[in-house]
Amino acid sequence: MSKSDYDISKLIFKALNHKDKNKKIFLHEPDFNDSNAFKYAKACIESGWVSSVGKFVDEFEIKLASFTGAKNAIALTNGTVALRLALFLVGVKQEDEVLVPPLSFVATCNAISHLGAIPHFIDIENKTFGMDPICLHKHLKKIGIYKNGNLINKETNRRISAICPVHVFGNPADCIKLKEVANNWSLPLVEDAAEALGSYISNNHCGLIGDVGVLSFNGNKIITTGGGGALITNNNEIARRAKHLSKTAKIDHPWEYYHDEIGWNDRMPNINAALGLSQLENILEKLKSKEMLMKSYCEIFENNEIVEVFEDKDEQRVSNNWLITLMLNLKDKSEILELRNNILKKSHENGIFIRPAWNILSELPMYKSMPRSSLKIVQDIYPRLINLPSSPHLARNLEFN
Ligand SMILES: Cc1ncc(COP(=O)(O)O)c(C=O)c1O
Repeated sequence: MSKSDYDISKLIFKALNHKDKNKKIFLHEPDFNDSNAFKYAKACIESGWVSSVGKFVDEFEIKLASFTGAKNAIALTNGTVALRLALFLVGVKQEDEVLVPPLSFVATCNAISHLGAIPHFIDIENKTFGMDPICLHKHLKKIGIYKNGNLINKETNRRISAICPVHVFGNPADCIKLKEVANNWSLPLVEDAAEALGSYISNNHCGLIGDVGVLSFNGNKIITTGGGGALITNNNEIARRAKHLSKTAKIDHPWEYYHDEIGWNDRMPNINAALGLSQLENILEKLKSKEMLMKSYCEIFENNEIVEVFEDKDEQRVSNNWLITLMLNLKDKSEILELRNNILKKSHENGIFIRPAWNILSELPMYKSMPRSSLKIVQDIYPRLINLPSSPHLARNLEFN
């Protein structure tokens, strides 16, 4: 095989049963088909309650709690804000270190930085792409020491105050083991489940193994509110504080404006919740569509010597297939990047907008001097990854096969 010739466009067209080659295929598009989006948005506008209170916010939260099985769901303006609030609520303070994986969207680290805290990178495992619990434990043994009841990084003298794993591309990280490590070191676990609505670990929705979980409803997610996010938690006190702080810490009163601490304006506007509610009503269909896409890609790429579709074989972890991902199988590492870039180039020329994984966070200019474990696995995996078009609507062509 010549690395400059390899082209997966035909295989993608075949997997998607995509006949109109002039029609572009995007990575992940919102889908309002067969939904009450217009009806609810109209009702919201007509009511005049378009901002951060209103019945759609309440209904969206109730439905989200019911779908995820969380005792509490709090709708917020976006996932980054939700993550910042969650980290604050478990006690992350300025100059603390928060343990994170280096393979994620940049928002995971940014939310930590927005609190004045420091991301501390822990390597991932290749079976989930999520934070490796063994690496985490070993690394904490190497660098951690208790002083006055706090876990201190003896290399930087800073407090380590939380663990924040990420369910990458919707694939659950091994949060059962990560929770054990967190308990062992008395650290709170905040799950970045921004991409994982509809993903489960041992029948628990992602985000609910730890103390608090965070979801995103950005336009590219499995359901969207335009822009939006949420906290989900079974901890009633975290939920109560999240609601209070996200509403400028205002004490409820018909006319008085009294705020008892410094809060944020983080609540999801009603107009966004109206869209979200309409999307959430169709979540099961969207999950089903994504399962069909996954099945079709797996069939088409089966026995391919160069690429394979990533699948976590552990039955306890169920992915929502948010971004279905190809892994390049080349042994010769020096050739992988060239092959990946050629595949991307050829597919883009054919109107298929596939994407590589995000650049490794620990190599970005603002995070390259942050503390870390060995990051061997992420360095090996990162250049091998290609996200495939995964919009739920793409499955419509498959239903007639
Ligand atoms: C892993 C991860 N964390 C956090 C976020 C931030 O969410 P938002 O874009 O809603 O701020 C996103 C995505 O957008 C994400 O993919």
